[in-house]
Amino acid sequence: MGDVVNLLGSGTEFGLDFSYKVQDEARGIADALRLAEGFAGNAPVFVLLGDNVFEQPADYFVKNYLEQQGGRGARVMLTEVAEPSQFGVAALDEKKVIEIQEKPDRPKSPYAVVGAYLYDERVWDIIRNTKLSARGEYEITSVNNEYIARGELEYDFCRGRWMDTGTFESYLVANQLMFERPFLAEPKA
Ligand code: G1P
Repeated sequence: MGDVVNLLGSGTEFGLDFSYKVQDEARGIADALRLAEGFAGNAPVFVLLGDNVFEQPADYFVKNYLEQQGGRGARVMLTEVAEPSQFGVAALDEKKVIEIQEKPDRPKSPYAVVGAYLYDERVWDIIRNTKLSARGEYEITSVNNEYIARGELEYDFCRGRWMDTGTFESYLVANQLMFERPFLAEPKA
């Protein structure tokens, strides 16, 4: 936590205003998101996992969400990956996500659910009703599956390259890729 705050500070440097919450135990992404309820209030919330690196801005994702029943339900981003069993995997039927499985042994598709999610204010009650998974976490995949059960989850395919840098190896690869071809535009001189 100290390292994160030291690195990012108040947000002024980026023209933003950061608030922080500490998750005392690693009990899953849904459990961490729960800490933001007071912060988000009744507005829709955009959840972005800190170890996910995106090449393109997500403005299309937000725009499509706001056009989705006027910003109701949930929206996720999918991308095709070589090893889907390392991620949440979306089973698709025509144009709908019918189920998301968390790190399945036998993935039903090559489409990983990336770490960018949009939810309406009902997400807080959904999190409260989420059960612990077999690995002892409150899974964001359980939250997404509840929206699927309600028929209220839509998706976009991720534009540009995407990486999850949650392992030392993938962190190294991300650094190498950015060194060769920076994801983000160089700062203006
Ligand atoms: C988490 C989610 C998973 C998602 C991934 C994206 O996994 O549980 O559904 O596909 O982020 O980065 P984690 O990397 O925390 O194991």
